[in-house]
Amino acid sequence: MTDAAERRERLKGVYEEARACTRCRLAGTRTQVVFGAGNANAELMFVGEAPGANEDRLGLPFVGQAGKLLEKLLGEIGSERGAVWICNVLKCRPPGNRDPHPDEIEACQDYLHHQVELIEPTLICTLGNFATKLLRGDPMGISRLHGHDEVRVIGRRAVRLYPLYHPAAALYTPATLEMLRADFQRIPELLAMGPPPQPVSTPDPGIELDLVPEPEPEPLLAEPAADLQLGLF
Ligand code: URA
Repeated sequence: MTDAAERRERLKGVYEEARACTRCRLAGTRTQVVFGAGNANAELMFVGEAPGANEDRLGLPFVGQAGKLLEKLLGEIGSERGAVWICNVLKCRPPGNRDPHPDEIEACQDYLHHQVELIEPTLICTLGNFATKLLRGDPMGISRLHGHDEVRVIGRRAVRLYPLYHPAAALYTPATLEMLRADFQRIPELLAMGPPPQPVSTPDPGIELDLVPEPEPEPLLAEPAADLQLGLF
């Protein structure tokens, strides 16, 4: 199996786990889990807030008006949905589109970390406050941070993080749309910088260690991945 195919299979395994998830109350109200969609080998990943009514119905992220705007902005930089990975902080719809609760974000964050570790994006665009605060681990808001890239370690992976306004916030506010569009224009340049240096995982040779062989990582797949409509390309 190629690396790319293996990555995709492992991602499907995480999806299988997620779609049976009962870690928080949203399991009781969702129609289905909205895991994420796009290219499992994407260099560019977008993380929004949570599925809305359309996403909950179709099982795919950003399929409503905000998604259409996201696609338009991607087109303006010569990209498209199928070239990137799109997902959310929460994989299930909060009823009535209310804000995610802190315990729901905490319960769900492993899935996002697995996605980052498996897809290994170079650049993650956080869309709006919830994704930005979660992935930066800091309460600073999007109006101060949008358009400023920085390197952050997420899970075990160093990525360039690039906070952007949420497309839904830009739908009816032309000034926000202009800022979002201008920030989007820098994405190709940020991608061209390549991946940031990764955290060193090998021990410092100067330190004496009890060298015990590393245990094999636990397989993510509990059972063979079923054929599924994940929206993977
Ligand atoms: N808004 C989000 O944050 N995510 C979606 O999937 C759709 C709208």
